[in-house]
Amino acid sequence: MINKPTLFLDKEKTLNNIDRMASKFLEQRIHFQPHAKTHQSRAIANWFRDFGVNSLTVSSIEMLSYFANDQWDKLLLALPIHPVIFRQLNDWNNKIDLTVISSSLKHIRTFNNILDKPIKLLIDCDPKYGRTGIPIHDHESISILINEVKALKNIQLSGCYLHAGHSYNCSSIEEIQRFYSSQSEHIKALKNTFQTPIYFGDTPTCSVVNNFSNIDVATPGNFVFYDIMQATIGSCNVEDISIELACPVIDWKSNGNQAQLIIHGGAVHFSKDSMIINEQTIYGQLSGYPNIYVHKLSQEHGLLYGPSPLIEVLAEQTQVNIYPVHSCLTAQSMGFYIDRENGLEYDHMSKNH
Ligand SMILES: Cc1ncc(COP(=O)(O)O)c(C=O)c1O
Repeated sequence: MINKPTLFLDKEKTLNNIDRMASKFLEQRIHFQPHAKTHQSRAIANWFRDFGVNSLTVSSIEMLSYFANDQWDKLLLALPIHPVIFRQLNDWNNKIDLTVISSSLKHIRTFNNILDKPIKLLIDCDPKYGRTGIPIHDHESISILINEVKALKNIQLSGCYLHAGHSYNCSSIEEIQRFYSSQSEHIKALKNTFQTPIYFGDTPTCSVVNNFSNIDVATPGNFVFYDIMQATIGSCNVEDISIELACPVIDWKSNGNQAQLIIHGGAVHFSKDSMIINEQTIYGQLSGYPNIYVHKLSQEHGLLYGPSPLIEVLAEQTQVNIYPVHSCLTAQSMGFYIDRENGLEYDHMSKNH
């Protein structure tokens, strides 16, 4: 029995998620360099080694240090470089096989002058997501940057990095497939023009698409656990989601035919990330009940709505299990995982760094 919200992990489902993704890329001879931002766990990262993974992608200098200090000696920092981390990056580049990304000639030039030895750099290209990078179709700007960078003695140009985060706007398998078809034309043009390795990866596309011609390195991350958002997009089945937040049941309140279940599980546990289902904002889905959602969250409390007879039965239980909307943020908020089979605890960087 639990006495506080507890994040349970299903190891078998997690290993199946890793296996499916690793096999897909292995078959196509695409190097698989999964993003560690979802699990942020040394224990879970090590499970990837059994599937041939020898390198990780990370999103902060802290995450880079966390894994580099645990014998991951081939890492890609997929956050564009910026001056305050140049010295630390230089130190790590002296010790491990490090790759960084940027689209800023100014930053790259400054970094070049600080480095003790050459570093691998990917040009950050924007596949129409609109966050960072040179627009993927702007070959002229990419070409200018490549030519400038080639002249720098400590910068070893190693490819182009693309993150198509707008795949999260899709809402079916067919839509994700159409999304990738339009991406793949730009990727092909980029590859043909610059004859350079292409790094690409987001969970919706990598889960649904089977043929990735022109991609050299794949960097998805969320697939390790999946979540309700991914299931709604069409990336996975609800049964593939491998973490559940177990929340103690506090009470219930009937309001005629409808009722509310009050749980100990709020924004500090789930995070405040939400999504819209059936025109309603939701923060989680009750495991085993496709139509029962967390509709309200305050700091410590959550409210689930449903028919009174069902809520009355659920209120008899000491706890309910909830699938998160966004597994990365729920894992980050909770800071550790408990194996649902044997009670073992697995680390999360946020509580161990
Ligand atoms: C730059 C970058 N690369 C790769 C990923 C992995 O994407 P996903 O978690 O959808 O697999 C992310 C996720 O946010 C990202 O920001």
